[in-house]
Amino acid sequence: MRLGLSGLIGAVLAAQAVAAGAQELNLYTTREPGLIEPLLASFTESTGVKVNTIFLKDGLPERVEQEGEASPADVLMTVDIGNLVDLVDRGLTQPVESEVLAAAIPANLRDKDGNWFALSQRARVLYADKDLDLSSFTYEDLAKPEWKGKVCIRSGQHPYNVALTASYIVHHGEEAAKAWLEGVKANLARQAGGGDRDVARDIMGGICEIGIANSYYVGLMRSGAGGPEQEEWVKAIKVVLPTFEGGGTQVNVSGAAVAKHAPNRDQAVQLLEYLVSDEAQKLYAEANFEYPVKPGVAVSPVIEDIADLKADGTDLTEIARQRKAASELAEAVGFDN
Ligand SMILES: [Fe+2]
Repeated sequence: MRLGLSGLIGAVLAAQAVAAGAQELNLYTTREPGLIEPLLASFTESTGVKVNTIFLKDGLPERVEQEGEASPADVLMTVDIGNLVDLVDRGLTQPVESEVLAAAIPANLRDKDGNWFALSQRARVLYADKDLDLSSFTYEDLAKPEWKGKVCIRSGQHPYNVALTASYIVHHGEEAAKAWLEGVKANLARQAGGGDRDVARDIMGGICEIGIANSYYVGLMRSGAGGPEQEEWVKAIKVVLPTFEGGGTQVNVSGAAVAKHAPNRDQAVQLLEYLVSDEAQKLYAEANFEYPVKPGVAVSPVIEDIADLKADGTDLTEIARQRKAASELAEAVGFDN
């Protein structure tokens, strides 16, 4: 009798320990702490689930791979479609079926098997001299002779440009993409290189008139987050959302996946579902001046002028699959030379 009772108590305690232990999850992310800490705090407040976060600048997939089946990772969060697809290709994710996620995230912004979900979008946009008479622009325009000597852009091998070229391949094929890259190179005002924000700096400096860069840097420069110099750079430009001929504006994403061996799978799904709530989408997008993935959630007022994003509908996985070809084209045309 006594033994039976203590056995029962032991079982109850063990069950409670499991339940208590389950009220936390482990997040591995390459995102900046400042971007996601407020969100995680709000998740914990509303669900009681504690989040242990490991911030990794590089080597996220390698680390999870090394940890193998014993990996404590529940949620893997990163940027760039290439990195998300890479996690799937390495077998580090597991499929998730969630009505909440499917309802909130448009189909082209999540894996069809549920292995990854986009949480925010960034667009590859045109920075143009503010005095240029320009209200619309296509990516194809960038290679037109009228822009000879007027274009600034970063390396053709940078993941942002590789994804853009990969999109171009999906739209028009490899041969057309090569001709386009040659055209853009012939239009360069300076060697391809530097960062996206340098396009604004060099437009202010009169080196170039137009260039391609990410949308969120507009918000970072305008808000003063990048320092007083950058506030001046951004005043020299206006921002146009370019489109592909017959398509929309090229976007890339930040996103997350549930880890293959997630010890706290339910809490991992709970976090992803929280991150697509209206409240979290607004916070997450505003923190880095990105676009929410959930239709109807507003962007930061700082980038109000480019709020009306018509994202290209191309399957992001297909774009990721063309990255190697895109990088080889940039090499073949000597884009960075
Ligand atoms: Fe960036």
